[in-house]
Amino acid sequence: MDGKRILLIIGGGIAAYKSLELIRTLSKRGIASRCILTRAGAEFVTPLSVSALSGEKVFGDLFDLTDEAEMGHIELSRSSDLVVVCPATADLMARAAQGLAGDLATTALLATDTPVLMVPAMNVRMWDHAATRRNVERLRADGVTVMEPDEGAMACGEFGPGRLPEIDRIAEAITTQLARSQRLSGRHAIVTAGPTREPLDPVRYLSNQSSGRQGYAIAEALAREGAQVTLVSGPVMLPAPPGVTRVDVETARDMLAGVEAALPADIFVSVAAVADWRPARSADRKLKLKDEAGETPPLNLTENPDILATLSRKRKHRPELVIGFAAETHDVEAHARAKLERKGCDWILANDVSGDVMGGGENEVLLIRGEGSDHWPRAGKAELARKLADEVSEHFARAQ
Ligand code: CTP
Repeated sequence: MDGKRILLIIGGGIAAYKSLELIRTLSKRGIASRCILTRAGAEFVTPLSVSALSGEKVFGDLFDLTDEAEMGHIELSRSSDLVVVCPATADLMARAAQGLAGDLATTALLATDTPVLMVPAMNVRMWDHAATRRNVERLRADGVTVMEPDEGAMACGEFGPGRLPEIDRIAEAITTQLARSQRLSGRHAIVTAGPTREPLDPVRYLSNQSSGRQGYAIAEALAREGAQVTLVSGPVMLPAPPGVTRVDVETARDMLAGVEAALPADIFVSVAAVADWRPARSADRKLKLKDEAGETPPLNLTENPDILATLSRKRKHRPELVIGFAAETHDVEAHARAKLERKGCDWILANDVSGDVMGGGENEVLLIRGEGSDHWPRAGKAELARKLADEVSEHFARAQ
């Protein structure tokens, strides 16, 4: 199950504390949890314990603008393989059944396009109530999987159905849901991401605006399809996606070495914004404002190795599918086609970087392969990554 991730929504019931045990059990199975703790849930468990166990930031309030800037609620709801509501309280299920979206948990449930599993826990009379029966039926009709609660003595002193199922049973249900076809299982993918840094002296460097988000999203999407992924990354502010092996590098030359060390691979996706040039000389000491002759030091540049072209032209260990990106500001298709030829890669994803693509959350691309091209309209980088992973999976399925 390595590389899988769930969005766990923790509702406000006494069983909320058991969600901590669930996070641990899933993590032992290689399943990462990103959590939304509802306001009522936070009355039973603290955000600190949830984040300590999940190893990730915990999301709480729809109107937390900092979170919105980092990751919109739409993105949050879609960047998982499965959404799990545990415990699913009578109130949370009622609101979800009606399609209300008054807080982050219900908004995520309404916005998600991934399967949803609800694990109810409530008092026996609440579970048996006609309103709850109706809501469960409605949710099931909407495609939500609602587990049957366990029967037994409850925290409130009553006896009957309504108890949260045993953690192992929940983990088993989650694993089953996640075990969809792993189309890239057994394949190794190398992805480069982020900028490179080319030192001028010990404290200065040449670099660019790349945030690494598109490359990281692609690494994550390929891992979700079951590929073993090595992410060779320039300096960025992002955590490694679950189940992905990250190799940190700084310069273009280090990046090429990192990629070559990770070979052999079936897939190479070159997303990094590799600096085309580096200072011809990198000084051992900090350069002074004026050099010995009293002049501003000159900036002499030399060309960096082209990682994509090097991989495309390898005689030994050329990955079966080599994919490049083309960052263009005008005549996008013509320049991208020329780049495909020049670099010798199999597919190229062309994007117009004249706007806010570099460093932004969205992208719009043209996938060029052979004679044809497909236009992928503007969408979140994670969505485009999933689309690419889908195309790659289909390519290998066809080739078999
Ligand atoms: N690339 C690379 N090594 C380099 C430069 C670019 O691997 N030294 C890869 C990028 O990761 C991308 C593709 O080549 O997949 C195209 O990068 P881009 O910056 O669009 O093109 P350049 O080769 O730099 O050409 P130009 O700047 O003239 O557009």
